[in-house]
Parts: sequence; structure tokens; C-alpha cells
Amino acid sequence: MLAVHLLIIALILWWIRFLWSRRRFYMLMLQLPGKMGLPLLGIALEHLIKKRGMTFRSEFMDKHGSTVLSWLGPVPLLVTRDPTIIKDVLVSSECINKSSHTVSAMNNCIGFGLLALREPIWSVRRKLMNPAFKTNVLLFFFPILNDETKKLVTLLDTFIGQGETDVLRDILRWSFRVSIKTTLGSDVHDDENFKNNKLMESYQSIASIVTLNTVMPFLQNNLIAKVCGIEKRRLKDADLINTTLKNIIDKRLKCNSENTSLHIPNTVINRAIKLYRDGDISYEDVASECSIMISAAFETSGLTVWHTLILLAMFPNYQDLAYEELKRVFPTREDFEVTDEDMQQLTYLDRVVNESLRLLPAIPFLPRETSEDFRLSNGILVPRGVTIGIDIFSTHRNPDVWGSGAGTFNPDNFLTENILERHPYAFIPFSKGKRNCIGWKFALMTAKLGLAKILRNFEVGTTFRYEDLEFVDNFVMELAQSPKLEFKRRG
Ligand code: HEM
Repeated sequence: MLAVHLLIIALILWWIRFLWSRRRFYMLMLQLPGKMGLPLLGIALEHLIKKRGMTFRSEFMDKHGSTVLSWLGPVPLLVTRDPTIIKDVLVSSECINKSSHTVSAMNNCIGFGLLALREPIWSVRRKLMNPAFKTNVLLFFFPILNDETKKLVTLLDTFIGQGETDVLRDILRWSFRVSIKTTLGSDVHDDENFKNNKLMESYQSIASIVTLNTVMPFLQNNLIAKVCGIEKRRLKDADLINTTLKNIIDKRLKCNSENTSLHIPNTVINRAIKLYRDGDISYEDVASECSIMISAAFETSGLTVWHTLILLAMFPNYQDLAYEELKRVFPTREDFEVTDEDMQQLTYLDRVVNESLRLLPAIPFLPRETSEDFRLSNGILVPRGVTIGIDIFSTHRNPDVWGSGAGTFNPDNFLTENILERHPYAFIPFSKGKRNCIGWKFALMTAKLGLAKILRNFEVGTTFRYEDLEFVDNFVMELAQSPKLEFKRRG
């Protein structure tokens, strides 16, 4: 009996110690409105139930303020859509790391690449990889972009007269081919898994496991993952990706770089192989960096093109304005090549793409984590170990910043005079600060070139109504129902 009493007392003391060690989290909770959710699970279950209603966070913030506190498992999650707080976070050196749950989920699935690295390793790696995104390297990709988009236009041509078609998959295949070829070079052409789309499917499957593992960190436990059948899927997809990459990397390593290095541009694979040869990164890092780039690039770029087409189909008056500009720059429809100089002239298309990235940002939510205690400009002290979620989706629809028309499509939001009036952190589709998207210039170049060719060739239409779009809470933006598009040939 005495032993039982002692055990209970020990448990109570342990519990008090546990709560005491977390007192700073609870202090933060007292200063911010929000929801606790269930013990240990936090809002994980609610997230699953409300997955289809990403707007529930915006609605909560409309009621309680633009910065709120919730719990993801046992970890506090500060969520914000306030540009001033977002700036505090993105410029601070205490919030460079992604949240631990996201990092372990990514490492588990795609390896230790730039996207998931933590300080102090991240800043060193970022400097090493930056040269792969210099303008001279990006210009080298124009022929790949033109060539792949020509193939997509030829395919879309077959949909003319077919009524409304679901083209999301075809657009993702296009952006996957662009990402793979620009990241890995042309060696990938002959790979069977690339040709039969298995490689792309494996990347998509891995991305969905990363999302699951982030929202429900307990799924990262090997035993639980095995019981749920996730582990088998993860191993199969990771194996397919790694085998493909290893073949390509090994083939490259066998080439004698000394003879040809002057002619090889600093693309991601070439840069990573050089760093490996110089002893700056390991062999596994070469594969991880390539894999991370492909994962980070293809769905985001493909979705941006798809979202823009959907929005222009729903708002045809803006599509007409974009078309007028395209007709001026490319007077004939047939098989034109887009150059960098052409791109500079497409200023209305710039506005359209930005507006599409505002309403449907390819990455709707950024989870960062405080590595030290850190004070926000509103005076609130955020302790070390708190996850800070920058809600890009809600920030881009924050009525305090974008006014009463925040929810509607209007490319004029990106007229220079309107941009100058807004807080610079109110529009952050590629994040901002030191750890912004390394590929943002390439992403915009890909999306603009793809859209220029598609919209010069076709008029797109849809009967799906903008008001009926439903947004699923996911790592990349997901729509509950895919609007279908109808294609008509332009003159
Ligand atoms: C429209 C397309 C794209 C969007 C909306 C997008 C958005 C983002 C966002 C929001 C981040 C997170 C930054 C943060 O944590 O603060 C990010 C990171 C990253 N993106 Fe992109 N991205 C796009 C395309 C690309 C492309 C084309 C590439 C590569 C070719 C790329 C490579 C990366 C990498 C490697 C990171 C991690 C950077 C780091 O942690 O240092 N992204 N991107």
C-alpha cells in the first residue's frame, strides 16, 4: 500500500515538475487568444476533421485577432497573419529553423537537404547552393522550358472540342519534367521510372506522408507507421526515388569533370557534385539536395500555373487583358519561342500571376520554430521551442491589409501604386528574409513562360464558380474539387 502511495506521490511530483518546466508556454497562452485542443493531441484531430475548411483559421482570426495560439500535440503553435509579426519572425535569426516535427518528417522521407536543415548547418549549405540559382544559370533553362511547354500545348490542343477536362495531372507532369530536367540534366530522359510517371507518383506520395507526419507527429514512430501501413509505402517510394537518383549521380561522377567543367553550367546536380568532389558535402547530400529541389519545385510551379488558369477562366475579363498583352508581344500563335526579353514585356501577366499566388499560394502555411527566446515587436515574449506558423493563406486574405475585396480576384492589387501602399510582408508566397524560397525567380520564370504559351494559344473557360472553391489544409495548396477547364483555340 505504501508503495502505491509513494508511486502516486512520485507521479504527482513528476507532473508538477513537467508543468513547471513548461510554465513559459502557459504564460504565452495567457497572453494570446486561441484553442488548446485535446491533451497531447492538441488540434491534430480537429485538423483532420476540418481538413477541408482551411478558411476556419481565417474565420477564427477574424473573430479573435491576427495572432493566436493553439497546440500541435504537446507543442504550442503560434499562428499569425499579421504582416508586422511576420516580419519580426522572418528577419530574426532566432526563427530560422523549421519546426522540429516538419524537419523530422522531411528527413525521414526525403533526406537532409536545404529545405529541412537546421542552423548552423543550414546557412553554410544555403551559401553553397545559392550559385545554382544565379540569373546566368536560369537563362540556360529557356530551351528546356520552351520545349516542354510546346509539348504541353500540343497535348492541350487535343482537348479542343472535348468540353471541360481535368488538366491538373497533365500540368503537374509538365512541371515535373521541367523540374527534373533542370535539376538533374538530360541523363534522366532514358530512365524507365521517369518515362512511366512512377517517379513523379513517388514524389507525390512522399509529400503526402511528410504532411501526415507533420500534423500527426506520432506517425513518425516506426511501429505506429508500420501498423498504419505508412512505413511500407514510405520505404517503397523512397527506394524508387533513391535508386533513380543514385544511377544518375553515379553516371555523372564517372565523367571526367576536368575536361568539361568550363562548359557545364552550375545547375543543382552539377553544383552538388562539385561540392561533393571538393569535400564540402557527402554523397548522400548530393541525392538529398537534388531530391529536395525537385520536391520543392514541381508541385508548387505546376499548381501556380493551374491556379492561374482556373482563376482566369472564372474571371474572363482579366483573361482578355492578359491575352491582349500576349498578342502584342507574340503576334503569331504558331510555335513561338519565349525569350528573357519577351518576359520583361509581360507586365500584366506578372500582375495576374501575383494575384493568383495571393489567393491560392502554392504553400499556404510555414512552420518555423524559435531556437532562442524571442520578443515580438508587440512586446510578447515567445519562449524557445515554440512553433510559429505563418499562415500565408490567411495573410493574403487579411481584410485589414487587402480591404473588403480581399477575397476576390483583382490583378490591380499589384499595380505599383497599390504595392507601395501595402506592408511589404503582406504578400509572401515565397516567404521573405534570409530563408526565403531559393527558387523563386526560377518559379516565376517557369510559371510565366508556361502561361504565356498556353494563354496565347487557347481561351480557357469553366462553369465552376469561384465561390464554390474549397481549400484543403495541406503542405501544398489543395482544392477539395478540381475545377475542369475548356480549351478553345485563339486566332
Ligand atoms: C510557385 C512556386 C514556388 C513557391 C510558391 C515556393 C514557395 C516556397 C516557400 C513559401 C518556401 C519556404 C520558405 C520558408 O521556410 O520561409 C520555399 C522554400 C524553398 N523552395 Fe520554393 N517555392 C516555389 C518554387 C520553387 C522552385 C522552382 C524551387 C527550386 C528549383 C524551390 C526550392 C525551394 C527550396 C530549396 C526551399 C528551401 C529554402 C531554404 O530552406 O533555404 N521552390 N519555397
